[in-house]
Amino acid sequence: MFDPAVFAARRDAYMQALGPGGVAVVRSLPERLRNGDAFHPFRQHSDVFYLTGFLEPDATLILRPGAETERVVMFVRPRDPEMEVWDGRRAGLEGAKHTYGADTAFPATELPSRMWELIANCEELHYSLGLDDQMDLMVAHAIARLRKTEKKGKRPPRCVVDPRAALHELRLHKRPEELVALRKASRITGEAHVAAMKLGRPGVFEHELEAVINYTFRKAGGSGPGYATIVGAGDNATILHYIDNRSAIADGDLVLVDAGCEYDHYTADITRTWPASGRFTAAQRKVYELVLATQQAAIALATPGATIDQLHEHCVKSLTEGMLSLGLLTGTVEDRVADQAYRKFFMHGTSHWLGLDVHDVGAYTKAGKARPLEAGMVITVEPGLYIAHDAPDVPDELRGIGVRIEDDVVITVDGNEVLTASCPKQLEELEALCSAR
Ligand code: GLY
Ligand code: MN
Ligand code: MN
Repeated sequence: MFDPAVFAARRDAYMQALGPGGVAVVRSLPERLRNGDAFHPFRQHSDVFYLTGFLEPDATLILRPGAETERVVMFVRPRDPEMEVWDGRRAGLEGAKHTYGADTAFPATELPSRMWELIANCEELHYSLGLDDQMDLMVAHAIARLRKTEKKGKRPPRCVVDPRAALHELRLHKRPEELVALRKASRITGEAHVAAMKLGRPGVFEHELEAVINYTFRKAGGSGPGYATIVGAGDNATILHYIDNRSAIADGDLVLVDAGCEYDHYTADITRTWPASGRFTAAQRKVYELVLATQQAAIALATPGATIDQLHEHCVKSLTEGMLSLGLLTGTVEDRVADQAYRKFFMHGTSHWLGLDVHDVGAYTKAGKARPLEAGMVITVEPGLYIAHDAPDVPDELRGIGVRIEDDVVITVDGNEVLTASCPKQLEELEALCSAR
């Protein structure tokens, strides 16, 4: 829900961080053609959304905390009754000022001719180079132009600073209203996973589960999946980013679902793995119990002061021990961790930041070292074990088993809160849900 005060508070915090010598240019990404003249649905760039709540394409925000007037400047598409009949209503320049908090608003087409003056004489230009070639060129032209006007008192910024330095630090530390959205996204996502478990008996197609999941998201008022929904049955569960979702579930398959609802632009990111026939086989049970115990211990470690690297080290050690007892690897835990043989079956990281983006922004290191977790940071915890049907030198009973268990966790002052706790993951709960069909 749009609350102008929320976005004004974020801009204030950002301008405070920029300081009087900083100027920030934040721009939406270009709309993308899907084919012919049909576009992919537009989704606002998360930085623009975070600072304005503005949802239209072709939007640029320039923040100038050191300026006396025109501190918040927006470039937007002007009102155009004819175009609005085709593409929807526009806020226009008046809307940018009255609804979205701009001190001044200009038509988007005037950005190239006006930007140079708006960034003149700042010390730091906070701008995300390398995302949008056209915009990079526009910024380069503005800087080149300012080199020519130095004698007249308008010089270029002294440096260009990546948004990681200030804006993404703010986005990394979630504000209360962001946690509200993430809780809601998590709750809806839990319901969608349960709906999939109830539907996913042998014979049902993966895309049918995708459909019920995405339906549940939209029905509950979410904007849809925050990333392409993954439904992998049997061997497909061993492909990390399997989004084809076109196979039928076979008897005895484990089904891996990785899906997250985006609500108010914030996305959850849950993975659950469950037995389509309602009972884990002995081999599946062993793998599942290993991943679950590993994940639960990793979540317990996710407290202020710990690092994502520590969580990952725990998962590597715990899963490698399991791989040895399952007969997937031989030798000692120390040796197999050292030579990274475990990567054959656990080849991804344990955690990432979560928020407006599924792989959310925020630096993972400080001064070259993993940074300690702090209250307000949100991470996923998602160990997994994947044994492809054609993996060499593995026990036959383990072939075609892929298990990942993923929850979303907000760090609190004295520990953590599992945002996705409502989504069942205990073995008995899954068996009960999957057999009650
Ligand atoms: N769903 C993407 C991920 O788990 O990172
Ligand atoms: Mn994830
Ligand atoms: Mn995921």
